[in-house]
Amino acid sequence: MTEIVSRNPEETFEAGRKFAAGLAQNSVVGLYGNLGSGKTVFVKGICDYFNVKNDVNSPTFIIVNEYTGFDNARKSVLNIYHFDLYRLKNLKELTDTGFENYLATDNSLCIIEWPELADEYKSVSLVKVNLSPGDSPGERIIKY
Ligand SMILES: Nc1ncnc2c1ncn2[C@@H]1O[C@H](COP(=O)(O)OP(=O)(O)OP(=O)(O)O)[C@@H](O)[C@H]1O
Ligand SMILES: [Mg+2]
Repeated sequence: MTEIVSRNPEETFEAGRKFAAGLAQNSVVGLYGNLGSGKTVFVKGICDYFNVKNDVNSPTFIIVNEYTGFDNARKSVLNIYHFDLYRLKNLKELTDTGFENYLATDNSLCIIEWPELADEYKSVSLVKVNLSPGDSPGERIIKY
């Protein structure tokens, strides 16, 4: 397990980049942590590692954002699907988004904020990341 103490958003961004470098192909990443814990900052770091040029923001109102990246190590295009399941109430609502189709896409990386519902899918194996507050206001503990 890796544990990182981040002192500011830039360090959380860097932690996301470092985490991305170790990801297996077609991973499904679940980011756990409260409102404002830094999940989206961490996703921005992951997307930066994969050379995404799109704006990366929490897709709170539209459930999923799609970005196109490039994986330098594997020399291949990478489709990144950024979910935020905060507003979904049950598994059916998640199924209705076409969630399983995104998971089955080749050369893809799914990143999920508020992933509790996704974890209920038996077929999904989440790479889990936990973000929690540290001792001071700008501090976050990142574990994966
Ligand atoms: N060490 C830190 N790492 C990340 N963000 C930090 C840190 N210190 C302060 N912040 C601030 O905390 C906020 C984190 O916001 P962010 O959108 O990443 O949270 P989130 O976990 O995605 O929240 P939500 O559940 O609402 O989507 C930002 O305003 C950021 O500037
Ligand atoms: Mg967010």
